[in-house]
Amino acid sequence: MPAQPRGVATAGPIGLNGRVTATSADTAVSLDLATESDTLALAARLASLAKAGDVIALRGELGSGKTSFARGFIRAFGRGDEEVPSPTFTLVEVYEFPEGAPEVWHFDLYRLTKSEDVYELGFEEAIGGAILLIEWPERLGPLLPRERLDVELSAGSSPGARRVRLRGSRGWARRLAGLAPQ
Ligand SMILES: Nc1ncnc2c1ncn2[C@@H]1O[C@H](COP(=O)(O)OP(=O)(O)O)[C@@H](O)[C@H]1O
Ligand SMILES: [Mg+2]
Repeated sequence: MPAQPRGVATAGPIGLNGRVTATSADTAVSLDLATESDTLALAARLASLAKAGDVIALRGELGSGKTSFARGFIRAFGRGDEEVPSPTFTLVEVYEFPEGAPEVWHFDLYRLTKSEDVYELGFEEAIGGAILLIEWPERLGPLLPRERLDVELSAGSSPGARRVRLRGSRGWARRLAGLAPQ
């Protein structure tokens, strides 16, 4: 039996240095973020596409911009002046918004010792109806939901630049494809 094709790749530019590829399994978008405000703007754009029940895994080394991304995302949901501290020690910060908008739970799991300990942080309750932003999602091992968006930040060509790779499971395909120019 011939091998099944893995999917059709569609490629096109996004902004200056972007690329979308789609396979039957997932959709990936790569973008250059020249400055921190590009990171905040991308986060705000994704906030406008996000809905209750979404899980967004923020990956990348220390200082790559995971908390900055979360800040841009949460401010886009709110008034724009939310403080958004890093949940380094609290492990989770919960944001509530008016007018029926979903809660946003911002996790930083770097200090989580055992993946099951996440349930003590209200993880199950959050998965039900909130949007989850999770720094250090690796700490969850198999507890990390498969249906999710991965946002992977890495160093760019200058100290203020970053590269981001967005990789979304099925529920994100249409939304990520919408990031391409019309
Ligand atoms: N393009 C960029 N995107 C995000 N952060 C950037 C960018 N350029 C510089 N920075 C800086 O990098 C740091 C990122 O810190 P932070 O978001 O706390 O990282 P992390 O949560 O991944 O450890 C901040 O000091 C931020 O100002
Ligand atoms: Mg952080």
